[in-house]
Amino acid sequence: MLRLGSVNYEVRGKIAVLTLDEPNKLNALTIGIRAGILEGLKRADHDDQIRVTVITGAGGKAFCAGADIGNFDFDPEKARAFFIEAMNVLTAPERALKPVISAVNGIAFGGGFELAIASDFIIAAESARFAVPEIKLGILPGFAIVRLGDIVGRAKAKEMSMLGDPVGAEEACRLGIVSRVVPDDALLAEALAFADRIASQPRLAVQMAKSFYNRGLGGDEMRHAIDGFPFLLTHADAREGIAAFREKRAPRFDKK
Ligand code: COA
Repeated sequence: MLRLGSVNYEVRGKIAVLTLDEPNKLNALTIGIRAGILEGLKRADHDDQIRVTVITGAGGKAFCAGADIGNFDFDPEKARAFFIEAMNVLTAPERALKPVISAVNGIAFGGGFELAIASDFIIAAESARFAVPEIKLGILPGFAIVRLGDIVGRAKAKEMSMLGDPVGAEEACRLGIVSRVVPDDALLAEALAFADRIASQPRLAVQMAKSFYNRGLGGDEMRHAIDGFPFLLTHADAREGIAAFREKRAPRFDKK
């Protein structure tokens, strides 16, 4: 097993398993997790032995709790640079040459949810919970705003983005977010079994299937989201929402 940043990289036959491993922060997208995701996906793409990558989270409680809220910078230039870098990481599964399966245990919130939907498939443990909770911080997600409507339909995407409430594994399956729901203790085995089935198919045809279905998913539509993020951060509601999270209290948003 290799340690790439805060991500464990393990080869299991034709499958690379990336385990996000900062459970004390619910595997939020810290510098170490971000570096490990990029490095791990690149390594898998460059290794001829590997056919499929599985991403999962260490610690049982979370797949990934999203952006590292403790490290947000309110300066617009820094915020924009941060957001571009973060989007590059959490959309990396979509750009990877080989199929990526997210095996989601527990919480997949914010950027963690986006990382999962940027994968080709999500296998969810019964305990999995998916949410776009940024609204509770006075901000918005970038990638989910662009893609979620295609997956769950526009109204449900708006509901998830405007309320920020979590959906459970079964509902996520009904909504088309998740491919299958499995018992918690069978999650990795089921994800590996699914990965093995894909790994036994002709490799180039599989990679081309991924590219064909992802055609047209360019980067241009992300521009609006990217430039919206630093703008939202200048609003008093975002400062209040983020301060409230850090201080572990309920936010008091502008009531006017
Ligand atoms: N960034 C940084 N740290 C995070 C985090 C994040 N996105 N999500 C959780 N953590 C940290 C908490 O601050 C806490 O650290 P502490 O023990 O040093 O205080 C630790 O992870 C455990 O989280 P906690 O909130 O105590 O767990 P919980 O079970 O009560 O709640 C959540 C779980 C997911 C509901 C809650 O952590 C949460 O709302 N996280 C933020 C999710 C989010 O908004 N993501 C999008 C960010 S743009």
